[in-house]
Amino acid sequence: MNVGDKILIVMAAGSGSRMGSSTPKQFLDLGGKPILRRTIETFVSAVPEIRVITVLPREHISFWREYCLSSDFLCPQLLVAGGFTRFHSVRNALEKVPDGAVVAIHDGVRPLLSQELVRNMFSKMSTGKCRALIPVLPSVDTLKLLDKAKGDLGEDILKSSGEEIDRSRVYCAQTPQMFRSEDIKAAYSQAFDTSFTDDASVAARKGIPLSYCLGERYNFKLTSPEDLALARMIISSSRR
Ligand code: C5P
Repeated sequence: MNVGDKILIVMAAGSGSRMGSSTPKQFLDLGGKPILRRTIETFVSAVPEIRVITVLPREHISFWREYCLSSDFLCPQLLVAGGFTRFHSVRNALEKVPDGAVVAIHDGVRPLLSQELVRNMFSKMSTGKCRALIPVLPSVDTLKLLDKAKGDLGEDILKSSGEEIDRSRVYCAQTPQMFRSEDIKAAYSQAFDTSFTDDASVAARKGIPLSYCLGERYNFKLTSPEDLALARMIISSSRR
């Protein structure tokens, strides 16, 4: 690979148990195509020269290969087996990433991002002014900090901690999160910590400065059956 390569690591090695389906959610149908295919297609349409690394549950690698061949989805992909947590899955993929590239790490179950977001983020990274770029959205809801407690009858109750959160300072992080390959490989050489909730938190612990851009409302993570129903409505109304 050349200096300046653009690489997508698409994370799809989760089991998706919250979706309540025996098929991992990344393979479920969204308007006639698997969610994961839609996600990859958006990146490839936005940046045709992008190299794709797809991280899958080990037991679904041959399933995905066969699906791609039988459905004429012939975008070249390097297929990598995931790990115990998302952190370990990312780390497995980074072993395949050369120096000198810009790496976008994206959740396979966020299929509704726009091509513009992908292009704009890569173009900001190519200016050399940011080391890492994270899409965020301001919180629209008022946030409550509550503690779980036990009631008189042993039931679970929620209690205010008394702390207030200033909503104007709260943002929700999305993916793709973009990094220089040397930086993110160095960050993922750290030991796993359960406080790492996204790639940005791993990079920040390593001291890599983070820059932010505006994410997109439709770029939500498909987690529950309700999310999938919403995504299907969006797809059918926009005829994507
Ligand atoms: O579980 P969660 O919804 O946070 O997963 C976010 C993304 O990370 C999903 O696309 C999922 O497939 C991926 N993942 C992974 N390896 C894991 C766990 C999650 O690639 N071990």
